[in-house]
Amino acid sequence: MKIWIKVCGLRTPETVDIAVRAGADALGFVLCESPRQVTFKQAEQLITAIPAHVQRVAVFRIPTEADIAAVIATPGFTHIQCDAVAAPTVARLLGDHSDRFSILPVIRTVDGSLSLGEYPGAAALEPSVTGNDFAWAMAERVLIEGQTSGNGQTADWALAADLATLVPTVLAGGLTVENVQQAIAAVHPSGVDVSSGVERQRGIKDPDLIRAFCLAVRNTEQVQTILPQRSLQPQLASIASSFEEISAQFREERNRSRSRTHMSTIASSQSLRDPFATSGDPTATFGSDTAELAKLLSGEYPDARGRYGPFGGRFVPETLMGNITRLEEVAKAAFADQKFWHEFDGEAKDWIGRPTPVMFARKLSELWGIKLYFKREDLAHTGAHKINNALGQALLAKRLGVKRIIAETGAGQHGVATAAACARIGFPCTVYMGAHDIERQSPNVQRMKRLGATVIPVTSGDATLRAAIDEALRAWVADPEGTHYLLGSAVGPHPFPLIVRTFQSVIGREARAQMLDKTGTLPDALFACVGGGSNAIGIFHGFLGDPGVQIFGVEAGGRGNATGDHSATMTHGTPGVLHGCYSYLLQDAAGQVTDSHSVSAGLDYPGVGPEHAFLRTIGRVQYTTARDDAALAALADCCRHEGILPALEPSHALAAIKDWAKSNQGKTVLVGFCGRGDKDMPILQAAAPID
Ligand SMILES: Cc1ncc(COP(=O)(O)O)c(C=O)c1O
Repeated sequence: MKIWIKVCGLRTPETVDIAVRAGADALGFVLCESPRQVTFKQAEQLITAIPAHVQRVAVFRIPTEADIAAVIATPGFTHIQCDAVAAPTVARLLGDHSDRFSILPVIRTVDGSLSLGEYPGAAALEPSVTGNDFAWAMAERVLIEGQTSGNGQTADWALAADLATLVPTVLAGGLTVENVQQAIAAVHPSGVDVSSGVERQRGIKDPDLIRAFCLAVRNTEQVQTILPQRSLQPQLASIASSFEEISAQFREERNRSRSRTHMSTIASSQSLRDPFATSGDPTATFGSDTAELAKLLSGEYPDARGRYGPFGGRFVPETLMGNITRLEEVAKAAFADQKFWHEFDGEAKDWIGRPTPVMFARKLSELWGIKLYFKREDLAHTGAHKINNALGQALLAKRLGVKRIIAETGAGQHGVATAAACARIGFPCTVYMGAHDIERQSPNVQRMKRLGATVIPVTSGDATLRAAIDEALRAWVADPEGTHYLLGSAVGPHPFPLIVRTFQSVIGREARAQMLDKTGTLPDALFACVGGGSNAIGIFHGFLGDPGVQIFGVEAGGRGNATGDHSATMTHGTPGVLHGCYSYLLQDAAGQVTDSHSVSAGLDYPGVGPEHAFLRTIGRVQYTTARDDAALAALADCCRHEGILPALEPSHALAAIKDWAKSNQGKTVLVGFCGRGDKDMPILQAAAPID
């Protein structure tokens, strides 16, 4: 889950710039008495340089009527922070201007209980909060801190943790680079707020500390993916019920009016056929698109049944249920354990070579009339993004206590990554690979064998990735206790899609920070190719909460849509069950899975991960296609003009960008450049021979 970061008490253009580039989501300007106080005039000047995606908070304790008038008169503020007790007055004073602002009410922890404000007359929190309807309705989240502000005093983390289970809660007070990870693990807040913790001298911000703080927070986000349940206190429940009930409708209406075109409503023409659904049309339980997205981003999806709305789930034989449940338990514990992430981060840095760079593609930008950036997963160890998930799951396998690892592979990249991770961590490894793919991706077969893996050709079915997954699942059923099936894409029964996304979301986290650092702003559009969907879901997760970023998944259009010779699962498929989960797939009228085709082995799969099906349904991601010939042409462009041989998979994303650029000149575009093309030499020689 992405954590909202607010850096508070900024006073200079330099520190504002550093906080933006470090990936802060909001900047606070203190307009009341404080060592960090700025005038309205100074705040206005500082705000002009802040890009639109970063929120700007006017910070008060108890603002006066004149203060609120001045905030309204100052262009650029998006939020008003004040002690919660003052929030109703602020809401009333904003009157007709309320649509421009959100209120950030501050709740304080005082001697083991909550207070709406510490000025004379403020009582300990009473259920009368419900009287302040309008103020709560204007709040997207609440902020919790200790009795005093800006002097390093920490909040009561246990109380904050309970509040965070009930309302979106921003933890403030005494956070530092050293303690923020521990605080996040203890409180599970939806945001953090830092001020004195990134200062070396009182009131003077330190650039290195701002950067280190934001990085420390981003590094913990993976831990948040699976939330523990906490006990609820009656006192807190009154805040929660008023916050939730009162504000949900208000926010929804306001969001709807503000929503961008890409957040289109649920496609109405969908005919969903879920043989396992207990009643009627599963989309009937869907809320609005923004509310559904919020559920995903807050960790509510996947739910206890592993569902993203109607998609996902776990449709597996009884013999595998024990394994799947154990895997979920082990993953949950590992994801909440800093030691696990410490080991993962260390290996990711030294062995994989993370962070991978974001590169400006100078020549293609010129040729296509856009500003194009590559997130270079091709430079990760073994040459593709697959290694992130292979490493993560191999570390999980240690905790599972299994004796060996099996995997499937299509393009061979996941097979190579798994073979390498097994060699590194110390597991025997068997890889199932379709006989057709063994032929067309032969360099990777050699690599797997050299890394110590046994490669088993699969000749059944279409002898590509689908058949390889079938075979690996069969082998897992035969030895459920001693084997971990290291699934390579964001597909399969729950918890696989969640596990794979958790490990791959490092791509999006890094890319977001790198784009901010390089360009000072977020891209207009983000593209990634979609096979099963792991590289795409990994990079998308860095940007799903940024409504200004249009997101596109690119499927393989094969020989053209008219021929039916493609792997465009979401563009041309229908919902159904494949490989243990309910998602889109290519199937005939009788529900038989049909063969797919793509020049790229990694995209040649008739299914897709359930989270993509969900994102498509709520309209947050648009899915499009690129044909074989367009991908080959884009690959040639990239070789000639950027000096990089891309894999055929990301070449599909490049082809879609080339097309999109024609009507979107001047836009900034980021692409998940998910692999290098050495593995594709046999296909390239066959498709476009050179002497
Ligand atoms: C380089 C590369 N990119 C993309 C993919 C597609 O997989 P996914 O959609 O899971 O990222 C593959 C699959 O083998 C691949 O090798």
